[in-house]
Amino acid sequence: MASSSSSSSHAAAPFFLLLLLLPQLCSSGVTLPDQFVDPTYPPERPAEAAALFSNYGGPSVCKPPPPYIPVAVFPHDVDPVQFALNLEFTEAEFFLHGAYGEGLDQIAPWLALGGPPPVGAREANLDEETRRVVKEFALQEIGHIRAITRTVGGIPRPLINLSADNFAWVMDMAFGYPLNPPFDPYANSLNFLLACYLIPYLGINGYVGTNSMIDGYKTKELVAGLLGVEAGQDAVIRALLFERRGEAVAPYGMTVAEFTDRVSELRNRLGRCGAKDEGLTVPRELGAEGAICTNVLSADRDSLSYARTPAQLLGILYLTGDERVPGGFFPEGANGRIAWSFLGANKSPGN
Ligand SMILES: *[C@@H]1O[C@H](CO)[C@@H](O)[C@H](O)[C@H]1NC(C)=O
Repeated sequence: MASSSSSSSHAAAPFFLLLLLLPQLCSSGVTLPDQFVDPTYPPERPAEAAALFSNYGGPSVCKPPPPYIPVAVFPHDVDPVQFALNLEFTEAEFFLHGAYGEGLDQIAPWLALGGPPPVGAREANLDEETRRVVKEFALQEIGHIRAITRTVGGIPRPLINLSADNFAWVMDMAFGYPLNPPFDPYANSLNFLLACYLIPYLGINGYVGTNSMIDGYKTKELVAGLLGVEAGQDAVIRALLFERRGEAVAPYGMTVAEFTDRVSELRNRLGRCGAKDEGLTVPRELGAEGAICTNVLSADRDSLSYARTPAQLLGILYLTGDERVPGGFFPEGANGRIAWSFLGANKSPGN
């Protein structure tokens, strides 16, 4: 009896330590501190907390086995991963401005590598719950840009059009007629989530596509980590929208589910390569195992995420359906060697 009670009090000790540490660990994530030396390099966890989270095994359990091909980054890894920065910059600016009212230039200006600030991004009128989620996503994007830049080198942030007018144009294209009044992503939480439906999903498509083009073990580790969080963000956005799928989007009268259908169809049209995109509900035969209409996650016949190439992604983000004709989110074109290669003589580094 005595031994069992003493062992349960031992088990409880780390739990109390966790409770003591939690307020400290969580407080820094909610609002941006006013002054810090380098906001994109979060401080180490306090030693006790680190021990609490990592002392379950010895060094051999904690280290991955050595890579079969001991090359961290191959030269051919660089362009496809740098291409992803175009999407990461877009997400970072949209989420940061939407939730904090400030962008990369205020929070981590060096990561933009001298690229121009985005056009038309602003703080959205979000409820507290949505704002907290978007703040987290926004800060995650800073980590993504930093990790890509550290692993394969950076590219300058492209000019990004995040004006309400650009999102309104997307929705007009999606419905095939001008919505009246024009769709405003910054007006409220629901509109912002519908606008968010547009971008992280393309990140998933991109990273799934990138996977077969890269070979370095560090590059693969990076892309797997990026894919994981992009997929998570998209899943959260879609789940929040799914809860409201039957709700009419004011003042248009169309439901949330219908908006997602239209946007997905638009992406399929602009991507020009068949169905790689599905809204929140589908005909049963398109659902998982051809057996369900619920479609919280968009995936193929084997329930695997769809891949898209850089050219397909650019056709969508340019809103022109043509990777050679910039517009939409990137009025001057996206950056990096892959995007520039489609623009021919019209665009090159520093031009
Ligand atoms: C942003 O998009 C809107 C809507 O298409 C357009 O009117 C505006 O000129 C664009 N801004 C830039 C800088 O391209």
